Amino acid sequence: MDQSEWSLAELDALVGKTLEIEDHPADYRHRLRHHVMATLFLEPSTRTQLSFQTAMLRLGGQYISVNDPQTSSLAKGESLMDTVRVVGGYADTLVLRHPCEGAARVASCYVPPGCAVINAGDGGHLHPTQTLTDLATLMRVKGRLSGLTIGLCGDLKYGRTVHSLIKTLARYPNNRFVLIAPVGLGLPANLIGALNAQNVLITETTSLSEVIGELDVLYMTRLQVERFESTAAVADALPNDWFLTTETLGRGRADLCVMHPLPRVDEIDPAVDADPRATYFQQASMGVYARMALLLRLLEGERAMPVALPPASGNEAPCPNPRCITHQQPALPHTYRPNTESGDSHVCFFCDQQQLSD
Ligand code: NCD
Repeated sequence: MDQSEWSLAELDALVGKTLEIEDHPADYRHRLRHHVMATLFLEPSTRTQLSFQTAMLRLGGQYISVNDPQTSSLAKGESLMDTVRVVGGYADTLVLRHPCEGAARVASCYVPPGCAVINAGDGGHLHPTQTLTDLATLMRVKGRLSGLTIGLCGDLKYGRTVHSLIKTLARYPNNRFVLIAPVGLGLPANLIGALNAQNVLITETTSLSEVIGELDVLYMTRLQVERFESTAAVADALPNDWFLTTETLGRGRADLCVMHPLPRVDEIDPAVDADPRATYFQQASMGVYARMALLLRLLEGERAMPVALPPASGNEAPCPNPRCITHQQPALPHTYRPNTESGDSHVCFFCDQQQLSD
């Protein structure tokens, strides 16, 4: 599931359903009785995994799970494709978190018919269900998803929640984005290129205190240190003006909405939590209702069918993204598709990285 595959009307319906479930959870208690969800989490997770599991339980369904690759056959050298073929046969939906970019797309091609794949985060690439949670939170707090000035702050290079969120909010009219990132951790060039091609209004800065007064929404993120190429890069990112303190927040508007997908490390001072503009814990609870809405939409709708792999000519170059799943799973074909977001280039079918020859 990737938001770009859903129309805005479908997204709005999912957001509306999320808020309806939050208001009337008891009405949904038995809706997915007899359904089974498999959660396959091959990277650390608290919120996403537990909110999926509680979402399924609150809908009357059940779940099976693997959250330590060392306890699954992946540790014996089984390919991701074989694992999802098998686990997908045990469940109606497979929720996958994986450290490699494009892993969820792989799963959606290799699961058996009848199993819907949900991407719960693939490396630094995307995190679509966090975006659904974020949209519902914004709708609840601001009452709209358009006409907003949104500050995205922190590690915009590896922060997958930001990648999914900006791609989605850029599709709503009259949104403007202020990117606030330490040097070297800005939004990937690919993504900036795609947004520029759509004439999305973007400004970039390294100073949160200078721009906070312009914002309707401030979306904070932590440094994704586990994806950094060196520890020196962590130290380089620290001294900049991008941490949120009560003093910085003092310059923000009275109706600013401060969000964070969590976990927080140092980037928001805990003293900020008492400010009514701090929305991140409300946002974390919304994750349960958003995932309930998504499970209902996928499991009560038409039977899911695997995505067709495009035919590979056999002589395509390897994907230029070193974090792409194709490098971890050599049996996968190198295959590209036309880039629907920016002109006549091609992108990796799995991780969306632009092909070098373009
Ligand atoms: C995020 C993630 O996993 O990308 N967490 C989450 O799912 N709420 C953010 C993060 O880890 O920084």
